[in-house]
Amino acid sequence: MRLDRFICKSTELVKYDAIQLIHNGEVFVNGVVVRNEAVQVHENNDISLNGQKLAARAFRYMLINKPANTLCSNVDGVYPSLFSLIDVERPSELHIAGRLDANTTGLVLITDDGRWTFAITSPSGQCHKVYRVKLAKPIAADAGESFLQGIALQGEQELTLPAQLQIITPQEVLLTLTEGKFHQVKRMFAAVGNKVVSLHRESIGAVSVDVAEGEWRYLSVDEVQSFYT
Ligand code: URA
Repeated sequence: MRLDRFICKSTELVKYDAIQLIHNGEVFVNGVVVRNEAVQVHENNDISLNGQKLAARAFRYMLINKPANTLCSNVDGVYPSLFSLIDVERPSELHIAGRLDANTTGLVLITDDGRWTFAITSPSGQCHKVYRVKLAKPIAADAGESFLQGIALQGEQELTLPAQLQIITPQEVLLTLTEGKFHQVKRMFAAVGNKVVSLHRESIGAVSVDVAEGEWRYLSVDEVQSFYT
């Protein structure tokens, strides 16, 4: 991670103050003064501030069952931020690994580990996200095949990646995606002449939403690791 980020993660300093200290020559990496805040450092580097060795706090990983009418944003807007439901220190350090729309409910993963977020959100990670979708009309007979082949979404150059459709009832389906384009589920169903009336994310990879709406919990070590295998 960047040196300024490491300083913030190992002290109570905010980024601006960390950068000032680095520029002032008060930060040493492996015994050498470093004045560039963008330098990449690792946990096993010997990093000190004013002669005191620093150790970064552990990353945090949590899940929440998002209620409708909350925002996947660090600040409140038309609706309250999802973070208003999570009572932890330094919430501004956290971010959402795969946002949901304001009216979508279900599983949201939250962390301060950017590498982990990349493993979850990058299509190259092939991480499965399962959505339960209720539809305005019965699903078209050929929708499953269209989703498997890829859909041309309005304004997008590339087809969507192969997605799996499981029909529960004519108007309720499970859709599994490995990517997360803007409003993707709603746009996919619009492309096959239907309309999403409710959307709930049930799982991401091996992690399922298992707490009541509005509740959150930390992930287990195994759950965190599961996104790297
Ligand atoms: N696709 C959507 O259209 N909305 C979401 O919230 C998530 C996926």
